[in-house]
Amino acid sequence: MNVTHLECAACNLEHEARRLLNLCRECGKPLLVRYDLERAGATLTKESLAGRRSDLWRYREVLPVDDDANIVSLGEGWTPLLRAERLGKTLGIDQLYIKDESQNPTQSFKARGMSAAVSMAKELGARNLAVPSAGNAAGALAAYAARAGLECFIFMPRDTPRANVVECEQTGAHVTLIDGLITDCGAEVARRKDAEGWFDVSTLKEPYRVEGKKTLGYELAEQFDWKLPDVIIYPTGGGTGLIGMWKAFAEMEQLGWIGAERPRMVTVQASGCAPIVRALAEGKRFADEFKDAETVASGLRVPKAIGDFLILDAIRASQGTAVAVSDEELIAATGEIGALEGIFCAPEGAACLPALRQLLAAGEVEKGERVVLFNTGAGVKYLEAFS
Ligand SMILES: Cc1ncc(COP(=O)(O)O)c(C=O)c1O
Ligand SMILES: [Zn+2]
Repeated sequence: MNVTHLECAACNLEHEARRLLNLCRECGKPLLVRYDLERAGATLTKESLAGRRSDLWRYREVLPVDDDANIVSLGEGWTPLLRAERLGKTLGIDQLYIKDESQNPTQSFKARGMSAAVSMAKELGARNLAVPSAGNAAGALAAYAARAGLECFIFMPRDTPRANVVECEQTGAHVTLIDGLITDCGAEVARRKDAEGWFDVSTLKEPYRVEGKKTLGYELAEQFDWKLPDVIIYPTGGGTGLIGMWKAFAEMEQLGWIGAERPRMVTVQASGCAPIVRALAEGKRFADEFKDAETVASGLRVPKAIGDFLILDAIRASQGTAVAVSDEELIAATGEIGALEGIFCAPEGAACLPALRQLLAAGEVEKGERVVLFNTGAGVKYLEAFS
């Protein structure tokens, strides 16, 4: 298709595209997919989108799969962008929106990344996939691997929400629970993958999950009729969604679809695990590992992210910020959003609300601005957190 090469996000070294690769061979940082956007834009036009399929593969020309037959899909993406009028009123904001990612297959935005990653793994000949996960990425990988007829090996912390464990088992994955955090699960995959013949699909350790996630950015633009919002509030663990959206904005500018203006990108983390908030405050480009990470928002329990510098770069370039909220606040917010808008959010998604309150109080978001909160998953997966 239109892929030209892979490029290291840190040292810019070019890598060949049509091979199963993980990280940059020189510096060990993430690889990003680059496209011939002029060629892509010959058929991918704003007008052409009108009659296309209502999932993320509508943006086919800027997605990496070569042969359509390799696309592994369960109908991911093209989720509703819901106006949150009643919630907005309580905050004095007129233009408040929730991008409801709980309506994806496997009930989270992780479906986007895994649809792209599993499609590419299939196309490039991987047979066995492995992933460390906080829960939702595991459920998504298990589902897409099953659909592709591939084996998958999943490593999650022992205290991952039970729904995530059960869904992986019921979709045929090999599940191992580890006494530790996602970083310990990642170390276990890294230690065993060569001997076992696994392809590692950890966040940003392969180039394609971010390609699926970037469609969040394309969708926002399309759903807002090509005018991006003023502020995006996004619950951040590994950061793929935020990094993906940032990449999508750059691609859309090159396609001539948007101008140079960007939304302010706001990262939300739990106060029990806030490495990006800390690194931003300290003016660092890379985040230190956050010791003794703890939060009920399991997807935010990522003490060290390999894409930390990409998250921080996007926040700084957009004049955004990073905010930490307590577990009490994010659990309370789940009930508030549920009761006002009828959306039973994942605790990670609900965390956007107390973050927005902080920003309003600090004058960092104004009431006339257009604000989007990302509900990245479904509250039903976290019943333990509400008991
Ligand atoms: C519901 C939910 N929200 C947010 C996140 C964080 O996503 P990312 O790692 O892309 O920053 C996760 C990750 O597990 C998640 O499951
Ligand atoms: Zn490099």
